[in-house]
Amino acid sequence: MQKQAIGIFDSGYGGLTVLKEIVKELPENDFLYLGDNARSPYGPRSFETIYDYTLQAVKYLFAQGCHLVVLACNTASAKALRNIQQLDLPKLAPHKRVLGIIRPTTEIIGNFTQSKHVGILGTKGTVKSKSYLTEIERLWPQVKAFQQACPMWVPLVENGELDNLGASYFIEKDLKALLAQSAKIDTILLACTHYPLLLPLIKWNVPKRVKVVSQGGIVAKSLKAYLLRHPEIAGHCSRSGKLKFQTTGDAADFDEKGTFFFGKEVRSQKVQLSGGM
Ligand code: DGL
Repeated sequence: MQKQAIGIFDSGYGGLTVLKEIVKELPENDFLYLGDNARSPYGPRSFETIYDYTLQAVKYLFAQGCHLVVLACNTASAKALRNIQQLDLPKLAPHKRVLGIIRPTTEIIGNFTQSKHVGILGTKGTVKSKSYLTEIERLWPQVKAFQQACPMWVPLVENGELDNLGASYFIEKDLKALLAQSAKIDTILLACTHYPLLLPLIKWNVPKRVKVVSQGGIVAKSLKAYLLRHPEIAGHCSRSGKLKFQTTGDAADFDEKGTFFFGKEVRSQKVQLSGGM
């Protein structure tokens, strides 16, 4: 089997904040990023739709030769990963792997909190799935997790509204709603790919004693460790430091916004997913 890039999938631009950190940890690896911009955001969509779209993306990345695919999207990880790993992968490609970003994040979140009260911010889909609550309860039984959906934050970031009165209003409102659930919350996890771009406003709206944790760096370190533990998978991943970007949406739009999310110039190519638009 030929060596290929690691596939990184997100509903749109957000996964680029994760890829940015992954590239710092694994600069020699090749990555193929796929954003399903034609159908994003996934946050408000149903379980069935997100599963269907994510499976199409995984099949597409496998067809490109990727041996390992990372769902760099919390909503897709929350609503599609388990089914794909347990039901589809054994039939589709038993030797290939699909990883998500909830597990690596929940594995270490307990290390950040002293009070053992953690707040989770995510899309409606992520919050509704209760994936973070379930994983944290399983891995850190002594930690209590509280969550809050922030449905306006993704559109704010996508529209470049990062530091104005409108953004302040929604950020303050949702953070108040989270912190009202427990006065002991000392750690807030940004469980959505877009939220790190709102970090200055988020920090401004929480007490100084509260740590705000972004997951990109955590996921990147965990992926590096995974490749070291799994040479049989790492051996199928090509290493010439190349990045390729693909979108189901408009390539020019992707390049403009993607550059902002990735922090470096992005040049994409438009592709179609089967069953997609
Ligand atoms: N990438 C998604 C996430 O991390 C946010 C954008 C969307 O709703 O599609 O949950």
